[in-house]
Amino acid sequence: MILKIIDSKNPILRKKSVIVKKIDKKIKKLIADMQSTLAAQSDPEGIGLAAPQVGKNLKIFVIRHDELERVVVNPKIIKLGKPHSAKATRGKKEILEGCLSIPHYYGHLKRPSKITIEYLNALNKKVTESFSGFPAQIVQHEIDHLDGVLFIDHIIKEKKPLYKIVGEEYEEVEI
Ligand code: CO
Repeated sequence: MILKIIDSKNPILRKKSVIVKKIDKKIKKLIADMQSTLAAQSDPEGIGLAAPQVGKNLKIFVIRHDELERVVVNPKIIKLGKPHSAKATRGKKEILEGCLSIPHYYGHLKRPSKITIEYLNALNKKVTESFSGFPAQIVQHEIDHLDGVLFIDHIIKEKKPLYKIVGEEYEEVEI
């Protein structure tokens, strides 16, 4: 079932999500629906979806990016790399970040390039996994959702520009 993705004005996106006590039939159905919902997004395409985005304040997110497909339940950050210093990122391209709950808006964020998390997968198995590069950015974006944080919060805090895609062009917009 394709679920409705709520937008950034919905207060559900600002609540902290709670731990999933048991991966039962209901949770399995929610995970399957989140995977179908993520796969169905085409404008814009999605690479990650967190449960609050479909109206459920539960610690679950799914990722689908090239070969990387993950179901993450109850993630805990074990290790987080240092945020890039201005020096380290000089000359390097920061990755544009967007969100299905704020469609067509993008901004450059400096997030740590490595993260290690502990979580339960869809089979209720405990996994410890490290992500680096773009996948690390996706994981941090999704964990933020579970804490009620949106990428625009970082954009505002870091006084970074926000862009909107208009046709095929990026236009800077006022926040
Ligand atoms: Co998002």
